[in-house]
Formats: sequence, C-alpha cells, structure tokens
Amino acid sequence: MDIQKVGVIGCGLMGSGIAQTAAMSGFPTVVREVSQPLLDKGLASIEKSLSKFVEKETVTAEQKAQALARLRPTLSLDDFADCDLVIEAIVENLERKRELFAELDKKVKPGAIFASNTSSLSITEMMTATQRTPRFLGLHFFNPVPIMKLVEVVKTVVTDQSVVETGLDFGRRLGKTPVLTSDRGGFIVNRLLVPYLLDSIRALEEGVGSIEDIDNGMKLGCGHPMGPLTLADFVGLDTTYHIAEILYREYREQRFAPPPLIKRMVLAGMLGRKSGKGFYDYSDPKNPKPNRFLTSNR
Ligand code: CAA
Ligand code: NAD
Repeated sequence: MDIQKVGVIGCGLMGSGIAQTAAMSGFPTVVREVSQPLLDKGLASIEKSLSKFVEKETVTAEQKAQALARLRPTLSLDDFADCDLVIEAIVENLERKRELFAELDKKVKPGAIFASNTSSLSITEMMTATQRTPRFLGLHFFNPVPIMKLVEVVKTVVTDQSVVETGLDFGRRLGKTPVLTSDRGGFIVNRLLVPYLLDSIRALEEGVGSIEDIDNGMKLGCGHPMGPLTLADFVGLDTTYHIAEILYREYREQRFAPPPLIKRMVLAGMLGRKSGKGFYDYSDPKNPKPNRFLTSNR
C-alpha cells in the first residue's frame, strides 16, 4: 500500500511535530485544528522547529521552505477526503477520539488507513467507531517528534497484516525506527516509563530527595537526558496524570496509580513546562528553578 498524502488531526504539541516530520519527509500533509488561533500557534511552532534545524545546518533554507509548502493547514475535515493515511493527535479523551473517527469514516475515502497517536487509550475501542477496523492501527510518536527516533506501531487483533507493514514502512520513511507492539495499555514505552515517572513523584512525596537531587540522580547516575521530574513536566503533568488514570483502570495495579501530589498540581493549574510551572518554575525557560511552592507546601 503506497502512502502519498498524509492527514494529521490536531496541531498541538504532538500533531504539529507529526505534521512537520511528514512534510519534511516529502509527504503533502493536511493538518487540522479547531480554531484559527490554535492552527496559527501550531504552525508557528513548526516554523520555529524548522528554523532550529536550519541554524544547526541539518536542513537548508530551501528544504525548510519546501516542507512548509507541503503543509496544508485547514479547519475542515472535508480536506481529508483523499488522504491515504490520517493520523489523529487530539486530546487524550476516548469519547472525543471516537466522535472524530466516526465523522472521518464518512468523509475519507474507504481505502485510507486511520491511525491514532494515543499514549494510553485502547486502539480497539477507537477503531469500533468506524467501519474500517482492519485498516486501523496505532502510530505512537515521541516528544519532540522531529528529534525522537522511535515510533510504536500498534496492531489490534483485527489489523490487516498489509496495514501493519504499511505502518512500519511509513515510520521508516519518516526516518524513525518502528517497533511493533500489540494493543495493551501503554504499549511498550509508556507501560515502562509511566510507573517510573510516578515513582519519582512518590519519592519526592516521601522526602527521599529534593526535586533537583532526584533528577540529577537519574541524569548523572543512569545517563538519562532528563531526570524524571523534568520529563514529567516536559510531557505535561495533565497528560501524565490522564495516562496514569487510564493505565490504572486497565491493569488495576498500584504501580500505575497517580500519586496524590500530581492530581493536586494539575487541579492547581501546574501542568509543567506548557503552563510555566510544574516541578520546576519556567519563568526563565533557559534556567528553570525548582518550584518553591513544592519545596515548602507539599
Ligand atoms: N525541533 C528541532 N530541533 C530541536 C527541537 C525541535 N522541536 N528540540 C530540540 N532541538 C534540537 C536543539 O536545537 C539541539 O540541537 P544542538 O544540540 O545541536 O544545538 C538539540 O535538539 C538538543 O536540544 P536542547 O539543547 O534544546 O535540549 P537538550 O539537549 O536537553 O535536548 C531533548 C532536548 C532532545 C528533548 C532531550 O532532552 C531528550 O531527549 N529528552 C528526553 C525526551 C523524551 O524522553 N521524550 C519522550 C517523552 S515520552 C513520550 O513522548 C510518549 C508519551 O506518550 C508521553
Ligand atoms: P495538546 O493538547 O498539545 O494538543 C491537542 C490538540 O488537539 C489541541 O490543540 C486541540 O485544540 C486539538 N483538537 C482537539 N480536538 C480536535 C479536533 N476534533 N480536530 C482537530 N484538533 C483538535 O496535546 P498533545 O500533547 O499534542 O497530545 C495529543 C495526543 O498525543 C494525545 O492523545 C496524547 O496522549 C498523545 N501523546 C502525547 C505525548 C506528549 O508527550 N505530550 C507523547 C505521545 C503521544
């Protein structure tokens, strides 16, 4: 199956990265948001990321212009009718995703493949909103998408083998290494990563170490590029919390249970890097400082 035209639904943190990567890899790419300001915001982050690559001389100014020219921003789902592959990257909410896929199923040509970038929801529960269950799979990318080399290709019990092969091949055409996994909560990476992030929060709550010492412990002791509390802020504490809730419901195991502190931080609007405060305070983004509220009032 030859993928020529790609559609991406959602142009937030992940959708903008997926659309950018597809366009950089030569695919004409339609990308949709729910409002013009959000679409403009997503396109501005694509522009910024491409400019970083140009500064680093990994991409030429001409390649940047070509990638931008391959992008077709839209507010309408009608523009996805002739896409060969549509990748959903909207908020992590099963009902919203099912509604979207049911609507897309009516508008997009029957031969097209549908994919979700969900972190933790069941691909099977999404695909049943459509009439194309054999042509439905997960394509789970990692943040920041233009840099991270992995894509998880998620097959369900009914995904057609040719669709799985097309997903793996598409990942390679984006310059990623695909890994194949089955539709179980968290797939490979989040099943292992999320309990680790949650444990770092429990360690903080129990006074095992300070925010900086927990992060430095894992960065310098294990060679991770970011400590776990920095990484939770980077993923988004709301996203991390929602993933933990979903995995806890799936497995009913304590290791997936979100610790009380993360719930309270999310309720208080401390969502990590994107809101300016999480375990760190990003008032000076180049020099984050541990969040002083947490050092005094946990
Ligand atoms: N676009 C283009 N270039 C970018 C970029 C972007 N969006 N982000 C960073 N870069 C480039 C920078 O220009 C920089 O290049 P140079 O070093 O050549 O100047 C390089 O990437 C490194 O960037 P920074 O110096 O800004 O920052 P860093 O050294 O801390 O690296 C990082 C940033 C690549 C994000 C690194 O810290 C990292 O790998 N962190 C871990 C990320 C991770 O684990 N992601 C997975 C999260 S889990 C997930 O995504 C799944 C889920 O479902 C929740
Ligand atoms: P985000 O909040 O940054 O972006 C989601 C975007 O989708 C928002 O801009 C929203 O306006 C838009 N949206 C909502 N409904 C829409 C619709 N019907 N049509 C078009 N756009 C719509 O969230 P995100 O971090 O980019 O996460 C998106 C998905 O990717 C989630 O399923 C998440 O679990 C998954 N994911 C996130 C990460 C991460 O590190 N944040 C990593 C991998 C996968």
